[in-house]
Amino acid sequence: MNHRIILLFSFLFACQISNAQKEPSIIPKPVSLIINKGNFILDQQVSIKYAIAQKSLFPAVNYFVAAINDISGIKINLNKKTDKIIELKIDNTISVNNEGYLIKVTPTQINITAKGYAGIIYGFQTLLQTIPQVRTNAILSIPCMDIIDEPRFKWRGMHLDVSRHFFSIALVKTNIDLMAAYKMNTFHWHLVDDQGWRIEIKKYPKLTSVGAWRVDQTSLVWGTRPQALPGEDPNYGGYYTQEQIKEIIAYAGIRNITVVPEIEMPGHIASAIAAYPELSCSGNFQLPMTGGNYKNMSSNYCAGNEAVFHFVEDVLTEVINLFPSKFIHIGGDEVDKTDWQKCAKCQARIKKEGLKNEDELQSYFVKRIEKFINSKNRKIIGWDEILEGGLAPEAAVMSWRGEKGGIQAANMNHLVVMTPGTPCYFDNYQAGPEGEPLAIGGFNTLKKVYDYEPIPKELNKEKYQYVLGAQANLWTEFITTSAHIEYMVLPRMLALAEVVWSPVSSRNWNDFNRRLKYHFNAFDQKGLHYSPGNYTVDIRPISKDNKLAVELLTESPEAKIYYTTDGSIPTISSNLYQQSFPVSSSLTVKAVTILNGKIMNLKPAEQSFVTHLALGAEVKYKTAYSKYYLANGPNTLTDGIRGKLSHSQSWHGIDNNDLVATIDLGKVKEIKSITIGCLQNYNSWIFMPASVQFEISEDGQNFVSISKVENDIPLDLKAATIKDFKVMANSKQARYIRVTAKKIEGCPKGHPGEGKPAWIFADEIIVE
Ligand code: ACM
Ligand code: ZN
Repeated sequence: MNHRIILLFSFLFACQISNAQKEPSIIPKPVSLIINKGNFILDQQVSIKYAIAQKSLFPAVNYFVAAINDISGIKINLNKKTDKIIELKIDNTISVNNEGYLIKVTPTQINITAKGYAGIIYGFQTLLQTIPQVRTNAILSIPCMDIIDEPRFKWRGMHLDVSRHFFSIALVKTNIDLMAAYKMNTFHWHLVDDQGWRIEIKKYPKLTSVGAWRVDQTSLVWGTRPQALPGEDPNYGGYYTQEQIKEIIAYAGIRNITVVPEIEMPGHIASAIAAYPELSCSGNFQLPMTGGNYKNMSSNYCAGNEAVFHFVEDVLTEVINLFPSKFIHIGGDEVDKTDWQKCAKCQARIKKEGLKNEDELQSYFVKRIEKFINSKNRKIIGWDEILEGGLAPEAAVMSWRGEKGGIQAANMNHLVVMTPGTPCYFDNYQAGPEGEPLAIGGFNTLKKVYDYEPIPKELNKEKYQYVLGAQANLWTEFITTSAHIEYMVLPRMLALAEVVWSPVSSRNWNDFNRRLKYHFNAFDQKGLHYSPGNYTVDIRPISKDNKLAVELLTESPEAKIYYTTDGSIPTISSNLYQQSFPVSSSLTVKAVTILNGKIMNLKPAEQSFVTHLALGAEVKYKTAYSKYYLANGPNTLTDGIRGKLSHSQSWHGIDNNDLVATIDLGKVKEIKSITIGCLQNYNSWIFMPASVQFEISEDGQNFVSISKVENDIPLDLKAATIKDFKVMANSKQARYIRVTAKKIEGCPKGHPGEGKPAWIFADEIIVE
């Protein structure tokens, strides 16, 4: 071939490529997107056409015009006669919901049709994801396509805690911009908490002149920060003026984001008490809280004091005058009610109102405030603790302690927002944890967020309508900088955005990862901090046919796993993982994820397995283990994995019941000993069983007792402790083993939950 032919050939080849349209990397994925041939070139000729009568669309138009100008320097014309137009239409008859939109792109025209403002701005956001996101000289080429799009859920939320650390208006705006780009529509602004009151209230200036400032201990880890001492300078903090708050509300409004203020009550308000001590039960003076380590401070309003209600109503009046949001978040979580137990005024209130206990006193507080908020034509939303002692008649519930509160409220026909700690708490680790910035704990990876389903399985179809949507929460005890906020939000927010917007049927992890590359590229160019993903290998036991095998999983669709079972550190020369492998002797699996020849982990994932006669055997429980402590699934007690002192993994939890587990060894075997491992964790209401009974059987019907072992660990032992309850079986023959761990009669004397139900936790039944 001579040169000319090569040139011609490559020219043809290039034409082919540019004609074959690549699907743009839109997140959240539109309901329907059909790519057609050709492109709309966005240049100086383009004009946006919209009816002058629809003046209300102007902020959206302005937003898009400014974005295009930033990217390219191009100034889009408005309502000018040109050959190339972007036409906006409001049409009430189209078949998408209020936030939905239609886009049709042809080489000379783009039509965006929506029922209202929200759909128009979302149409623009979608178009912006088809072109570069930062300043470029490249041609802005939008593929010809047809899009039909609408959100699945109404509440697509992101929360930001500005109390634990204060963040500037500029940072709040950056966060709102990121939310808007991914069509999130609710910004839950956590403005009030123990460690800082962040909203100016004109009638009570000390809330911010005192309550917004604390002694600076930013260099110390949250939980270790000592209380402030008299005379120390409270110079760390800040607050938003009402003018700044109006600015944020307007900024968010243009982007179709509702700002929901959270004004905590009746707990988590040590900041208000520092400003106005008379609001607490004791009335004692206290310095602003510096962090998570405190004693003898009050966090609660006194629920027996009428002046408190006047104060709270005054505050809410100013809040309602500022925020147009239909919902006002009144907090309600984690109220430590010991002050109320000791307070004469609170006790008098309980008596006078005929309340049963302090839970009902909180319910009284919330119901009274609800009445006030309803009288102003607004509704309350609160954390799921507001269910305790009786839910206020019209309250919406934010389910954070798992999904239980959300399910309960939806079944009572109350609106709910799902934000369960797993996977919606974005203050939790998303990778590592080696190499990650210090976090509060947990492990909410990108894939866990992507796999989240906001409608709980337990809910009947007719109750689905009560699930408004889902939200991620970003608590900031461990987060002090904007870079760190970005890192915790990106890219997990993109996964959540797809969960709350796109149809379930379109969820596809590999395709999401493909699209994510465009967004990572944009983050790189914009200098935004983000996590590249979770590369930790998940080492998972699987039991089948009375045998145990190990499965290795990585979240990265493109990476490979290499592993060892001899204790050595895995490298690219170790075993390439292709399929699950059996565990037949005690061993330690170590594994790494390798992408493009590079080990992606600072430390290999590692899991040891102990072998015994029941390994991989089927376990039948008489009473179910908690769905919150699934560990490795139904056969956790025979998976060869011993639990650690932290109760988050490898343990099955039984709530307020005996643990009765029967194991089938598959055939009759000679038994030397039987052991069950149990955990006590005083602070988490987990206690040793009172006793454990061991029985065996050859036929599964007639069991004979070998022995009963009494617990000898003191129930008031506060340090987390593991105990193996063990019996010798003297080589008896058995196929079935039954282990009965008897629950104690409630949490022990002196425990915060004295007399209330306790948990039993078990990790393994070892048969030798
Ligand atoms: C919460 O995380 N305390 C609502
Ligand atoms: Zn009181």
